[in-house]
Amino acid sequence: RWGLGTDWLGKNVIHKEVADSTQSVAHKEALHGAPHGTVIVADEQTKGKGRMNRQWHSASNKGIWMSIILRPNMNPGSAPQLTLMTAVAIAEALSEIISVKPKIKWPNDILIHHKKTAGILTEMQAEQDCIKYVVIGIGINVNQTEADFPSELKNFKATSIRLETDVYFHVKDIIQKILLRLEQVYDAYMQTDFTHIKTKWEHYGYKIGEDIRIKTLRHSFNATFLGIAADGALLAQMENNETKKIYSGEIEWFHD
Ligand code: BTN
Repeated sequence: RWGLGTDWLGKNVIHKEVADSTQSVAHKEALHGAPHGTVIVADEQTKGKGRMNRQWHSASNKGIWMSIILRPNMNPGSAPQLTLMTAVAIAEALSEIISVKPKIKWPNDILIHHKKTAGILTEMQAEQDCIKYVVIGIGINVNQTEADFPSELKNFKATSIRLETDVYFHVKDIIQKILLRLEQVYDAYMQTDFTHIKTKWEHYGYKIGEDIRIKTLRHSFNATFLGIAADGALLAQMENNETKKIYSGEIEWFHD
């Protein structure tokens, strides 16, 4: 029905008009044995979840609200690489349809004109040294206009593809492009290693080579963003010139 043209990703699509969060639907499905590559899509979410316990506005038919169940054979420590991989797939898919180059703000915000258009939330269920499944949540603002964004989102520089390009897109077309790309990068990654993704990620990386402020769970600090390490960590040159690997957190927005 979805005519995706993929080999395995999205062979099983669960579509909901309304979901609290496609992440919770995905977890339930995964625990009931949903296969690798299952995709859950909702037209609207009433309790969309963002990273760091933030909420994610998911108005009806304004964007892509979907979660993907993967069952990769890898150790739990490598799961963040799947998020970077997903960001690459989204950036590549968007590049095909818009005339500006999207950027990826580490680890996984997709920017158009330096404003946030999409986010990724990866959640994992692991047992000892084995991933049981991963749920990758993708939220993309597609057709919102200025009035569709609540005012508190202005601080997060939220935007939509339509606001930045003046073009109305069909959500389904973008979903198809993303799933095709994601299947390709996933297969390539599993057959080779992360360096393939790393190069692609850095091609779209936001502020590589520039001074940034990094926010981790406990503190914030200034550093120069050197790039992505072979394991997916952010490479930060600290003010004392040491190089540090950062595994979780985010780059702070400069409020100028
Ligand atoms: C972020 O904070 O940038 C990540 C946002 C992720 C939002 C998506 S929308 C589909 C899926 N379901 C959710 O509740 N969240 C993710």
